[in-house]
Amino acid sequence: MSDLKVLLTREQIAERVRAMGEEITRDFAGRKVTFVGVLKGAAVFLSDLARCVALEGSFDFIAVSGYGNGVVHSGEVRLTKDVDESVAGKNVILVEDILDTGLTLSYLTRLLSAHQPRSLKVAVLLDKPARRIQPYRADYVGFEIPDEFVVGYGLDHAQRYRNLPDICILPVDELGASR
Ligand code: IMP
Ligand code: MG
Repeated sequence: MSDLKVLLTREQIAERVRAMGEEITRDFAGRKVTFVGVLKGAAVFLSDLARCVALEGSFDFIAVSGYGNGVVHSGEVRLTKDVDESVAGKNVILVEDILDTGLTLSYLTRLLSAHQPRSLKVAVLLDKPARRIQPYRADYVGFEIPDEFVVGYGLDHAQRYRNLPDICILPVDELGASR
């Protein structure tokens, strides 16, 4: 394994995720929520966040492609897996690992809204505002981070590093010439 610099430790992540869960618990008091995670990156964040929300909750997952194994956004987002159950009438919390160009979440927000959820909020662990192509603001943001490519805690580079417990910066030499 190459030497990765830690940007956010597991302790920092756990503390922030707990606070986000408490905020969601307060905002949705007395209601049921449906967490819709964006595969695969958001799986780790969703599982931690959902356990910090003290409300009745269900899980669903959606998957998109757009990046392939590279790090440059193709500008095109395609749905590769839809939710298993209808989101109509539900309090949906769309859960994503990172908000980068904004293309993925703009697309998914439009898609899910069209199915008439009762409410739709978006929770992202990380936000890289410097990289935005499509203006987009998430409702719950864990951390704003600088324009670095990060891995760990669900985030990958070419499917590697997802199981690192900390969020680390991938050195430029590993990113290759793609960025
Ligand atoms: P957006 O459409 O550019 O906002 O894309 C967000 C998606 O890009 C995320 O779901 C990630 O899969 C991927 N992504 C963006 N930045 C990073 C990063 O720094 N590390 C790993 N994946 C990233
Ligand atoms: Mg992703």
